[in-house]
Amino acid sequence: MNGAPILRAEHLSLRYPGGKQAVSDVSLSISAGTTLGIVGESGSGKSTTAKMILRLLKPAAGGSVVFDGVELTSLPQRSLKRIRRRLQVIPQNPQASFNPRMTVGASVAFNLRVHGATRSVAWDRAAHMLDRVGIPAAYAHRFPRELSGGQLQRCAIARALITEPELVVCDEAVSALDKSVQAQVLNLLAHIQAESGIAYLFVSHDLAVVEHVADHVLVMQHGRVVEEGTAAQIWSAPSQPYTRSLLDAAPDRLLARKPTPSTHAATAWKAPLD
Ligand SMILES: Nc1ncnc2c1ncn2[C@@H]1O[C@H](COP(=O)(O)OP(=O)(O)O)[C@@H](O)[C@H]1O
Ligand SMILES: [Mg+2]
Repeated sequence: MNGAPILRAEHLSLRYPGGKQAVSDVSLSISAGTTLGIVGESGSGKSTTAKMILRLLKPAAGGSVVFDGVELTSLPQRSLKRIRRRLQVIPQNPQASFNPRMTVGASVAFNLRVHGATRSVAWDRAAHMLDRVGIPAAYAHRFPRELSGGQLQRCAIARALITEPELVVCDEAVSALDKSVQAQVLNLLAHIQAESGIAYLFVSHDLAVVEHVADHVLVMQHGRVVEEGTAAQIWSAPSQPYTRSLLDAAPDRLLARKPTPSTHAATAWKAPLD
C-alpha cells in the first residue's frame, strides 16, 4: 500500500501580515494510501501548514506543493476545482462547518453537486456514503443541531469522501469529541483507508490521537519540524525533549491501533452508533 507520494510539499513558510513567522521551511511527503500525522502544541503552525497544502493560504516564495505531479501553488483557479475534488478536508468543528439551514443529507450531496453531479445522483451517493459511515438513512433529513458531535463528524467524513478523494486533510478532526467517540471515528477513518487506499494528512495537538492513526509523524514546534519518524518510533523513543513533553501531556494511549491490512478485511465497516 505504501505507494508513490500523492503529495509532496517543500520549503513551506508563511508569516501572517503583521504577525510573527507562523511556519518556517516545512517539507513533507505523503505516500498514497498512508497517513502522515502532524503533532505539536497549539500555535506551532500545524493548521497554517495544512492550509498551505489545501491552497487556502499561499506559501512564501520558494514554497512548493505538488499533488499527484501537479504544482498547486501556481495552479490557475479554474484548474484548482478539479484538484479540490481529489483533495478534501474534514474540519475540526462539524457544527461550524455544516450549514445549519441545510439537512445533513443535503450538505453531503451538495459537495458532489458543486462538482457537477445531478441532484438525483448526488442524493443517491449521499445516502450511500452516510450508510457507509454508519448514519441511518432517516438522519439524512435531520439538521446539524439534531445530531451528536460524533454523528455529525461521521457526516463530515461522508461529505469529504463523496467526491472519492485521494487525500483527505483532517485538522483536529476528532479533538472536539469525547474519548470513546474519538476512538470510533478514528477506527472508521482507518477502515475506510484500508478499504479504499485513501491517504490522510492528520493534524492534532494530541500525540495519542496521532499515534493511533499515523504511519509517519512530524512533530512541529514554533513553526518548524523538530522531529520525524514512524508513529512507533515517536511514541516509544522520542528523541526531542519537546516530543517527550507532548507524550507526557497526552492522555493514555487510545485502546485500539490502526488496523493492519490483514485484519481489516474481516472487520465490518460500521462501528456502532455513538
Ligand atoms: N489568521 C491569522 N492571523 C495572524 N496570525 C495567525 C493567524 N492564524 C494563526 N496565526 C498565528 O500563527 C501561529 C500558528 O498558528 P496555527 O497554524 O493555527 O497553529 P496550530 O494549528 O498548530 O495551533 C500562531 O502563533 C498563531 O497565533
Ligand atoms: Mg490548528
